[in-house]
Amino acid sequence: MLLGVNIDHVATLRNARGGIAPDVIEAAVVCEKAGADAITVHLREDRRHIKDADVEELKKILYVRLNLEMAATEEMQKIALRLLPENCCIVPEKRQELTTEGGLDVAGQLDKLTAFVKPLVDAGIVVSLFIDPSREQVAAAEKTGAQYIELHTGRYSEAFGTPTEEAEFQKLKDAADYASILGLGVNAGHGLTYENVHRMKEIQCLNELNIGHNIIAKALFDGLDIAVKEMKELIK
Ligand code: PXP
Repeated sequence: MLLGVNIDHVATLRNARGGIAPDVIEAAVVCEKAGADAITVHLREDRRHIKDADVEELKKILYVRLNLEMAATEEMQKIALRLLPENCCIVPEKRQELTTEGGLDVAGQLDKLTAFVKPLVDAGIVVSLFIDPSREQVAAAEKTGAQYIELHTGRYSEAFGTPTEEAEFQKLKDAADYASILGLGVNAGHGLTYENVHRMKEIQCLNELNIGHNIIAKALFDGLDIAVKEMKELIK
């Protein structure tokens, strides 16, 4: 399984003092050297962590894929079409949320998302839609022309170690298997940790995990290089 490292929270720390440290670009290079298969950044509408200049610079210097997470807005579509990241993950966005709270309602906005995805795919970008693990959303995602889904693992992560873990895990497995039958590539992420990530290996068709917060948290104590290497080892 591949690992996309989300470095948003390196930018969160940088922005806390409005300066240039810690350097987001240096962090990306360390992740890349430690074996990250992609670098993921979420350019939010309010630019609370990653800024436009970060995305521009990352696109120039990375050897691995740049995965740009973004809302389905005209502004973000323009940025993606100008910078041409290898991957775009379309996420819902609410200004007040602490982090991405739920998956996209693809079924409820099929026409809008189909029109949004097409120019990106035509430009050569591999597009994924971040959805909750439900067959209805998977089937809708397939209709948009996006090549991938990213399954929201937040509920599984919260349920890990509790009586509802198995039910949440089975929802992920079922949605992933169904997507695979429909010919979609399957990624997953959100809330995954060193403790709960191992179960993702039970889902055979998973291609890539996008993990951020827990890797950056570990990096504070052990260093970013070790944090990335250990996660890579766990999902091998
Ligand atoms: N995937 C998506 C679509 C996300 O929005 C996020 C959080 O930005 C992640 C993965 C990574 O989540 P976490 O930081 O909890 O590992």
